[in-house]
Order: sequence, then structure tokens, then C-alpha cells
Amino acid sequence: MAICIRWRTPLSPENEISKTELRTIIFTPTGRDGDLIAALLERLAILCHVARSLEETCALIAEGAGAAIVAEEAFITNSVAPLTEVMQRQPAWSDFPMILLTVGGRVTYESERLRALRRPLGNILLLERPIRPETLISTLENVLRARRRQYQIRDQMQQYARAQEALLRSEKLAVTGRLAASIAHEINNPLEAITNLLYLMRGNVRADERQYLLGEAEQELARVTEITKQTLRFYREPAQPTHTDVAQVVDSVLKLYGSRIKAAKVRVQAQCRGDAPVVLSTPGELRQVIANLVGNAIDAMKTGGCLWLRTAVRQRAVRLTIADSGAGIPADVLPTIFEPFVTTKGETGTGLGLWVTAEILKKNGWSIRVRSCRKPQRSGTIFSIEMPLMEAS
Ligand SMILES: Nc1ncnc2c1ncn2[C@@H]1O[C@H](COP(=O)(O)OP(=O)(O)O)[C@@H](O)[C@H]1O
Ligand SMILES: [Mg+2]
Repeated sequence: MAICIRWRTPLSPENEISKTELRTIIFTPTGRDGDLIAALLERLAILCHVARSLEETCALIAEGAGAAIVAEEAFITNSVAPLTEVMQRQPAWSDFPMILLTVGGRVTYESERLRALRRPLGNILLLERPIRPETLISTLENVLRARRRQYQIRDQMQQYARAQEALLRSEKLAVTGRLAASIAHEINNPLEAITNLLYLMRGNVRADERQYLLGEAEQELARVTEITKQTLRFYREPAQPTHTDVAQVVDSVLKLYGSRIKAAKVRVQAQCRGDAPVVLSTPGELRQVIANLVGNAIDAMKTGGCLWLRTAVRQRAVRLTIADSGAGIPADVLPTIFEPFVTTKGETGTGLGLWVTAEILKKNGWSIRVRSCRKPQRSGTIFSIEMPLMEAS
């Protein structure tokens, strides 16, 4: 017979141990032992409940109880399986105690069989009959005291889980705030450029100059639109992934960083043409990943250096390698770089770039590897991303 038993969800907001959770369930299938034990416990104001069947015993334990007193005969006429099932379904904090009233005497085939049956029941205390009432009571009191400790551990685990949830919520808020700040920063640059261009157009300019300034302003506006679109696409609507040409995205990122690359005296060696590998992605996401890695590489080359970008197709996968001859990542920072807010750039860093990168990779099922070296003569960092190859359509 299969019975479905669910442990009561023990969540009272004040973390109080309820009466139900401390009651003792009694089950003695033959004779009047059950009623006698119940009368004894009631006299001592120990809450108890006499069960009439093993199934009822199981249901009551699952509802919530402090301990159970069961006569071993229960396992002679009944299958022990439902009780074993209840015991095995206990939550991690629980080790439900059971006092088993055994029949004393020699070791027989039957006593050996019963011993094997009760083994999987867990926290079992054997009391050989006839039992003196004081022995039963002191054993039960000890068992209930230990059970209270289990409830305390449960309550501490719940408090810890709630605190952790609150921490996660506040961390999410902080991430949102920082993201808003970095997007505002991204948008501010083109807006400043547009303001300057409009200022110039107010002056005395020739028609061809006006055309040029208008063209520039339009390009800057397109940048703003692109940034907001990308942000909305990534954080709000999951845009449909399409066949995306990796080389094209690499190109567009290098264009975007053109002025920074020049200013940092960085030489670029890109080998992304030729086989023109295509992956399934939203172009915005792949662009964001490449932009984050290239941005970090430029940051790492304060006194110039070399930036390598290479695609290779191997076993139905595209490997994009982005390497730099920059300062390298400190060994103690390396294991944490994909976590939010990890930055070595002080006020100028957000520590979000690689975290966002990792989120995008996870979402698309891509993988990333990083190697970094900080030797005086030979320092640098290599990131390589692997993405499944798609047939170009
Ligand atoms: N190519 C690289 N060379 C050296 N350090 C790097 C490189 N890429 C990442 N890092 C390290 O990882 C940290 C986290 O990077 P990231 O998440 O993009 O945040 P941020 O750029 O805002 O600091 C950086 O602060 C830097 O210490
Ligand atoms: Mg960064």
C-alpha cells in the first residue's frame, strides 16, 4: 500500500514551536498499553495522541510530532514500509525520535527479523518490557528535549534563509542602480557631442558645413538609440536569436572603440575574416560580450600594447580569442572576476562587465576560458569564448 505523506510546512512567523510539534504519538496495536501510557503522560501534562493504526501513526508524525512510542508488535502484523517512508522524507534538520517497546528474551529468528526491520527507521530507542513508568517518562523527556533542539536548528536555518533572501534583494537593487549609472554615462558622451554640434550649427556656417554637422549629429543620435535599444533588448525583451556573423560584430566593436584604441597607442591584429563563422545569437548580446572584453583589454594596456582578435572553427564550434599584452590579472582576483562588483579600477570601474558577460554566455550555452600572466617581461591576458557554429543562411 502506498500512502502519500507530506511533512507539515513548519513556518510560523514567530518561529514558535507549536503544541502539535511537541506531542507524543502512541501506537500499541494489542492490549490496553496505549491507553495506559496516554493516561500516565496526561497526568504529567505531556501532550499525547493515541493512534489506532500504523497508517494513522504515520500521518500524525508527518503532521508534526515531538516523538513516538510504538510497540514492536506493530511490525508483526503491519508492513513497516509506510513508517520507513515517513522517516526518509524528513527535512534535513529533522531526526524524528521513536521509542520502540520491545519484547524481552532470547535472540530468536523473529527478534532478528524485527531488528533488521527497524534499522532503516533511524533515531530509535529500545525499551524492553516490562517497563517501569519512571524509565519511560525520563526517556521520553530526554527525547523531547533533543527534539526541541532540532526545532531550534530549523528556526535558525529559516532565519538564515530569510536573511540571505533580503541580502539578494538589496544586491539586485544595487546592481540595477549601478547599471542605470553606467548606461547614463554611455548615453552622456553622444549627447554632449550633439549639444556641441547644435551649438556650431547656430553660428554662421556654410551649407556644406551644415550638412556635415547634421550628418555627425545624426550618427551620434544613432549611437544613443543603439545603446538604449541594446539595453532594453537585453534586460526586458528576449530578442529572437538569429544567425550572427562574428567577424562583423568584431568589426563594429573595433569601430566603436576606435578613438580609445588610438589614444591608448594600442596596435590591433584582427584575424576574423576568411571562413566568416556564424553563430546563433542576438547581435546585441555578442556585441556586448566582445565590447566588454575589448574594453577591459584596452584598460589593461595603459602604456600601449597589442590587442589580438582571432576566430577559429573547430569541431562545429567557433572559438573567438581576445588577447592583450596588458598588465595581466592579479592571481588573487582571477578566480572572482566573473562575480558582480569585482574591480581593480577603483572609482572608474563598476565590476559588472565580466559579470554581465558571464550571464550572456550562460544564457546562450557558450563557454569561456581565461589565462593571465603578470611576469615583468611577458604579461597579458587571453580570453577565449566557444560558441556552437551555425550554417550560414
Ligand atoms: N584583459 C584584462 N587585463 C587585466 N585585467 C582584467 C582584464 N579583464 C578583466 N580584468 C580584471 O577583471 C576586473 C573585472 O572586470 P569587469 O567585470 O569588466 O569590471 P571593470 O572593468 O568595471 O573593473 C577588472 O577590474 C580587472 O581587474
Ligand atoms: Mg570592464
